[in-house]
Amino acid sequence: MPAAQDLTSTPSWRALGDHYAKVRDSHLRQLFAQDPQRGTKMTAEGAGLFLDYSKNRIHDDTLGLLVKLADEAGLRGKIDAMFRGDKINITENRAVLHTALRLPRGATIMVDGENVVPQVHAVLDKMGAFCDRVRKGEWKGHTGKRIKNIVNVGIGGSDLGPVMAYEALRHYTDRNMTFRFVSNVDGIDFVEATHDLDPSETLFIISSKTFTTLETMTNAQSARDWLLKGLGGDAKAVAKHFVAVSTNAKKVSEFGIDTANMFEFWDWVGGRYSMDSAIGLSTMLAVGHAGFREMLDGFHTMDEHFRTTPFQKNLPVIMGLLALWYSDFFKSETIAVLPYEQYLKRFPAYLQQLTMESNGKHVTLAGKTVDYLTGAVYWGEPGTNGQHSFYQLIHQGTRLIPCDFLAFNHALTPLGRHHDILIANVLAQAEALAFGKTADEVRKEGTAEALVPHRVFEGNRPSNMIFADRLTPGVLGALVALYEHSVFVQGAIWNIDSFDQWGVELGKALAQKIIPELEAPAEPNLAHDSSTSNLIRRYRAGRR
Ligand code: F6P
Repeated sequence: MPAAQDLTSTPSWRALGDHYAKVRDSHLRQLFAQDPQRGTKMTAEGAGLFLDYSKNRIHDDTLGLLVKLADEAGLRGKIDAMFRGDKINITENRAVLHTALRLPRGATIMVDGENVVPQVHAVLDKMGAFCDRVRKGEWKGHTGKRIKNIVNVGIGGSDLGPVMAYEALRHYTDRNMTFRFVSNVDGIDFVEATHDLDPSETLFIISSKTFTTLETMTNAQSARDWLLKGLGGDAKAVAKHFVAVSTNAKKVSEFGIDTANMFEFWDWVGGRYSMDSAIGLSTMLAVGHAGFREMLDGFHTMDEHFRTTPFQKNLPVIMGLLALWYSDFFKSETIAVLPYEQYLKRFPAYLQQLTMESNGKHVTLAGKTVDYLTGAVYWGEPGTNGQHSFYQLIHQGTRLIPCDFLAFNHALTPLGRHHDILIANVLAQAEALAFGKTADEVRKEGTAEALVPHRVFEGNRPSNMIFADRLTPGVLGALVALYEHSVFVQGAIWNIDSFDQWGVELGKALAQKIIPELEAPAEPNLAHDSSTSNLIRRYRAGRR
């Protein structure tokens, strides 16, 4: 494996650079015309997902060259190291074992001399027993009423996965229960999430890996106050209305939650990789134990696909390599993720943390500044809404925005012709982006000459199409694992630490300094830059 700072001087990188000079001028119109089999050939399948990557700006030999880069960067060894439990998160000296969360009972993964799989299943069993009690109405609130409302309090990885999974799997949820998610330290988030809830029927899940996160602890305290106010102030009520999900038993108990009501996970699960750990407690409450297991099995099937499939047919490898191809050779800045499935409306938001907190890094594992672009900006909205908003820029703007389209054969609740119309749109968008419309075609439609340039679609806009039969818990698991591993592939080649997040620390520390400056009764001595100090003074004056 080359020293990371040498990535751009490896033979495979140089070969890709030469290759790019040829490919950048090829148009997808031409590539499809030259090879009638392209649309069936450039496809791969695994874990219930079908990927058509033929509408990418690649030649027949591009993927092979990218695979050579992966080989030269030691991707095989890095995949094995992750699955084996090596401490590949080197800046935090931690193993990266979200894949252990979905292993079947009886499997073995050793961390620091201990098999972690029995621990994983012990927590899953505890979650299952708890969820059964709540769902059957056996877990009663302080006044003896059945729990009907679940409020997950968490942020980042302790929120985005649970929210996304709840929305994605809503079809399978118990509709007699209400699920809410509070993340923002903006009090409005809490106020709106709870304004119509009866405290006697409400259970809070305080989800925080560290149990120190300012936003979550502030919201958890407000939840405690809200509950006690609503239930007459008896502190004993907390035990019936609060459970915790954390790696930090000490802090959980200091907050006043009995550790018997704590669901554990471990430091080898990164926050943004934790929706299938106990952080998924709200998901299990919503879809039941069996639905959650089905989701874990979907994750595991994709893990096995990733671990064992040759790179040329390996979905996360192909997607990771294509993302790198656009970032590093076409210098594109962003990737749009466009689910044609309303239930996946929060999927792009979930992916933002997964992709950008993981690969938003500017130094290699050895601490050297990289001389290539790393993680792209991921963003998106569900189709067809995006079509009437930002697609204009993707079709006719000046930037190259590779798109991932997600679609399904079946709607979960069919309604008239809606699904065919929806799918016609996703297929049409990918086709329009790739092939566009030439000036001659526009003229042939009788368009006035002055309007011709405005109505030309250059095309050659790349996209992936990911298709599955229907959005089941298993397919959701496979889809999330697909992106987790695609992120891994990119980070492995860039030789960065995809599993730390030091970039969020500075702002957190500064906020802690500013809070007392905003709240101090007497005018504080400010030692910030002139802009920040002025803004603090303005805020204080405005609050007087
Ligand atoms: O944003 C930084 C971060 O540490 C994320 O990585 C994490 O998911 C989130 O904060 C929440 O952390 P915790 O689960 O410890 O409250």
